[in-house]
Amino acid sequence: MQRLKIEGGTKLYGSIPVHGAKNSVLPILAAAVLCEEEVTIRNCPGLSDVGAACRILKELGCRVKRDGDCITVDPKAVTGTHVPDRLMREMRSSVFFLGSVAGRMGEASLSLPGGCELGARPIDLHLMGLEALGMTVTQDGGDIRAFSDKRLTGAHIRLRFPSVGATENILLAAVRAEGETILENAAMEPEIADLCGFLNACGAKVRGGGSSVIVIEGVEHLHGCEYRVMPDRIEAATWLCCGACAGGGIFVSGAREEHLPGLLSILEKMGCRLEIRPDGIGLFAPERLKACGDIVTSPYPGFPTDMQAVLMACTCAAEGESSFEETIFENRFRHVPEFRKMGADIHVKGMKAFVTGVSRFRGAEVAATDLRAGAAMVALALRAEGETTVRSIGHIDRGYESIERDLSLVGAKIRREKQ
Ligand code: EPZ
Repeated sequence: MQRLKIEGGTKLYGSIPVHGAKNSVLPILAAAVLCEEEVTIRNCPGLSDVGAACRILKELGCRVKRDGDCITVDPKAVTGTHVPDRLMREMRSSVFFLGSVAGRMGEASLSLPGGCELGARPIDLHLMGLEALGMTVTQDGGDIRAFSDKRLTGAHIRLRFPSVGATENILLAAVRAEGETILENAAMEPEIADLCGFLNACGAKVRGGGSSVIVIEGVEHLHGCEYRVMPDRIEAATWLCCGACAGGGIFVSGAREEHLPGLLSILEKMGCRLEIRPDGIGLFAPERLKACGDIVTSPYPGFPTDMQAVLMACTCAAEGESSFEETIFENRFRHVPEFRKMGADIHVKGMKAFVTGVSRFRGAEVAATDLRAGAAMVALALRAEGETTVRSIGHIDRGYESIERDLSLVGAKIRREKQ
């Protein structure tokens, strides 16, 4: 087991890079199964989740090569239709292989552990969409099988909730179906638009990716392509909040203003000065942040649930009262007890957390509970006096290539230790 040691109290200065988006490269890797020629995907982040997705591709019969941030997938010899439990346990969000494998092979099976650290994580919307396209779906406990003895047919589907994963699974199953699919109330996250960009580069005919209505005209085959993954907006938000929390002035290279609606205006309201440039975003923090008022997470373009913990870290040190209402996942306040260990004044009532800013924090021993909460603990530790130890950092490595390497670039005193 490894852990991070952070010596707080140092302001951050300098430039910190944003890598390729985890939540874009993962569905794009799954989509490679639908192609009948080699695909080259650039700007892939070096994350444990990406490694897990590559192991699934190999299990299915693809040839996968990695050279730096470039992953080449040759799906010509795909024969597998089953993702084994040992690989699903590495990354539950591999559920979108259901749509891509079934879309290519006519059937797919995988096992899904129950809930995860964020909540129940049902997939009813995924399965409803696949059935609407003509699949028969069977479930036996956590074992799920989707199959069809003929080519899928397009359908008019409306999601009761704009689920990111369900939108992706339906897209992946529909691109090679016969006829037109209209998907209403689709998720509008930028990663959806990126996935549609990849699919269209491979010869798919998808319109409206990134909007709430996506229209897919099915094609029989998808060829190969070269594609560059978008920058990771959640990583960009993490670095901006680390800079706000620790103080100083940093430049987040590769951050895009249009991917951060809501967050940038909140950071300015808290007293940060922002510099928006074509190649990234600069943030200059005040001596003491001001509270941000009431935050409610919601589907894009609302305030993202993935930014809730790291912004909360900033409010813990701010002057005044802030609140966070979590509307996406039912168990996404597990960082609160860990923040309290460092001196934060937070209380949770139902799906709402109430934060009263305090001026001083002390280092403590904390444990990451999920990847964004873990990153938020690092952000708060940068502010705390003395040393903080963050354990269970495997969670953090799922979403950040090397959080200690990147934060050290802007002067953070942070190192990784073998426990
Ligand atoms: C994706 O998860 C992201 N993961 C999550 O990022 C992100 O937090 C989430 O979207 C919301 O933006 C990846 O892209 C790999 P959802 P996903 O389906 O697809 C309910 C991170 O930190 N729901 O939009 O699982 C579900 O229970 C991760 O990088 C159903 O009820 O999110 C949840 O409450 C964490 N039925 C809500 O919708 C379904 O069939 C949002 O889920 C599907 C979802």
